[in-house]
Amino acid sequence: MGSSTSILWGSESTAPDPATGLTARQKKIVQSTWAVVRKDPIVNGVAIMIAYFKEHPDYQKLFSGFKDVPLEELPGNKRFQAHCQSIMSALSNVIDAMGDPSLLEATLGAIGERHHRRGQTKKQFFELKDVVMEVLKQKFGSKFTAEVEEAWSKILDAAFTGMFSAVPAV
Ligand code: HEM
Repeated sequence: MGSSTSILWGSESTAPDPATGLTARQKKIVQSTWAVVRKDPIVNGVAIMIAYFKEHPDYQKLFSGFKDVPLEELPGNKRFQAHCQSIMSALSNVIDAMGDPSLLEATLGAIGERHHRRGQTKKQFFELKDVVMEVLKQKFGSKFTAEVEEAWSKILDAAFTGMFSAVPAV
């Protein structure tokens, strides 16, 4: 029994799942790092969105609720915090759906459609990917190893590609 279990683990951890391109081991890495991040959705969501707006100041103008709030006041702004919380909760839904390809597709499709309807582009999402990777790197320090980085890079590629797969090219 011991050997059959290890054979099973071996094949699970090396074969990429067709829905995400991640191996079982990479999914576990994403889930365990996200378990830390999701405990503090406002702090971590604020860190991501502030870094995003610093890198792309024009994008703040897309958010009617806080488009004119000075960057240094944003972290304390409740409309902004509420938005950061929604993004983090949407990302949690994506990560929780990783094991269910149809649910994952539906979750990503809904986010993609809403953003596409408002005019957001795949490019903007991939710019956000760079920022998320950087914020995770800063947060986890030496624990953000090359293996962790690869797992995150893959899940964000899969998520952001999946979000836009059902909408016309942008
Ligand atoms: C991890 C990726 C992202 C997630 C999970 C996410 C999630 C959300 C959620 C849950 C909402 C509120 C519901 C809705 O109206 O759709 C929202 C709104 C919005 N998102 Fe995103 N978003 C992401 C990336 C982006 C990017 C890259 C942009 C472009 C700069 C963007 C721009 C917007 C805008 C303009 C709104 C409407 C805000 C308002 O109501 O004033 N989002 N997003």
